[in-house]
Amino acid sequence: MSDGTKSEDTIIVTGGAGFIGANFVYAALKAGGSSVVNLDKLTYAGNLENLAALADNPRHIFVKGDIGDRHLVAELLQTHRPAAIINFAAESHVDRSISAPDDFIQTNMVGTFYLLQEARNYWQNLQGEARSAFRFLHVSTDEVYGSLEKDDPPFSETTAYAPNSPYSASKAASDHLARAFFHTYGLPTLTTNCSNNYGPYQFPEKLIPLVIHNALAEKPIPVYGDGANIRDWLFVADHCSAILAVLAKGIPGEVYNIGGRSEKTNLDVVHTLCRILDELAPRDNGLGYDQLITFVTDRPGHDRRYAIDAAKIEAEIGWQPEETFESGIHKTVQWYLDHVEWVANVNSGAYRDWIETNYEDR
Ligand code: NAD
Ligand code: TYD
Repeated sequence: MSDGTKSEDTIIVTGGAGFIGANFVYAALKAGGSSVVNLDKLTYAGNLENLAALADNPRHIFVKGDIGDRHLVAELLQTHRPAAIINFAAESHVDRSISAPDDFIQTNMVGTFYLLQEARNYWQNLQGEARSAFRFLHVSTDEVYGSLEKDDPPFSETTAYAPNSPYSASKAASDHLARAFFHTYGLPTLTTNCSNNYGPYQFPEKLIPLVIHNALAEKPIPVYGDGANIRDWLFVADHCSAILAVLAKGIPGEVYNIGGRSEKTNLDVVHTLCRILDELAPRDNGLGYDQLITFVTDRPGHDRRYAIDAAKIEAEIGWQPEETFESGIHKTVQWYLDHVEWVANVNSGAYRDWIETNYEDR
């Protein structure tokens, strides 16, 4: 092409060896002609096993590296001439952000800043259609909006930011940077704020895979505080389809909230998981898995409730989730039962160290 763009179908996905990123890489490759350049630092949460099925796929190029490495990012942009960058790379676990916030500041804030800078340099030198079609999609969370009371309306795109944990504060800062790069430089950014995800390849430090993992290992199932905190759950494939839809139809500079209209207390979630496991993998001793539920010391600053108003993405983009919580959670439990080897490999020294740090004296 005259502007030097090699393939307008190539996209760069950052954090594509993590939970949502890996699911997205599969979804993007399945959806169409895109090639995916997958830039991931392979922290404890990045796992190449998540991408094993793509080992021989020439449309997937994996690059180990940091989004904050400006030289590497500039080189990838010049070499691959992508039509979009989708930024999943982040430190993502609230409990880790409480015990060790440094990496959250470094990756979520500083790393996103350098990624935006390099995207801007690249985009400014594009011409014509390649320039107007380019998108930087920043993947964020509903946690930037803070905590709701029981009867508050759900978060909309105009809810004021009020992050409460080092994780959500660092994500909020990155959202502000994406916004500023649009308003100041015209970089065509899109930001999505999604509710809690669950599904295949989720690292078992997060509630749903942790419960499945502990139950099957006959270990206590830790519920923080009174278990009445509420999250709005979305099956990961539905988050991925929403991102693809926003990429195709979203208006630069806009924010889209993504959620499943599926609010549950943590205790509801845990009991549902126990019930499904009782059906699919009953305990040898004949007791229900709910006997393993153990209330433990609450998380400091624990947000009480998250809920998403998804009206904008439904009306303007035409997106709807395909799974209900019941159908998605069944698929998820079945996936973990079918992938005991993946779980066993994830259950490495680093994971065991974290379990000790977070739960031993709780
Ligand atoms: P994850 O922790 O499973 O994966 C994060 C990935 O990013 C890992 O592969 C890791 O190696 C990589 N990474 C970390 N630092 C990096 C760096 N400096 N450079 C390059 N790669 C780096 O996270 P996830 O649950 O898949 O979340 C993905 C994104 O979606 C995050 O931005 C998160 O804030 C957002 N999000 C997550 C949820 C959820 O419920 N999990 C909900 C809404 C939004
Ligand atoms: P988590 O999966 O860490 O997601 P987030 O904190 O980003 O919402 O936790 C989901 C909910 O489950 C949250 O209210 C904290 C709670 N929780 C427990 O009760 N026990 C646990 O062991 C974990 C990891 C989380």
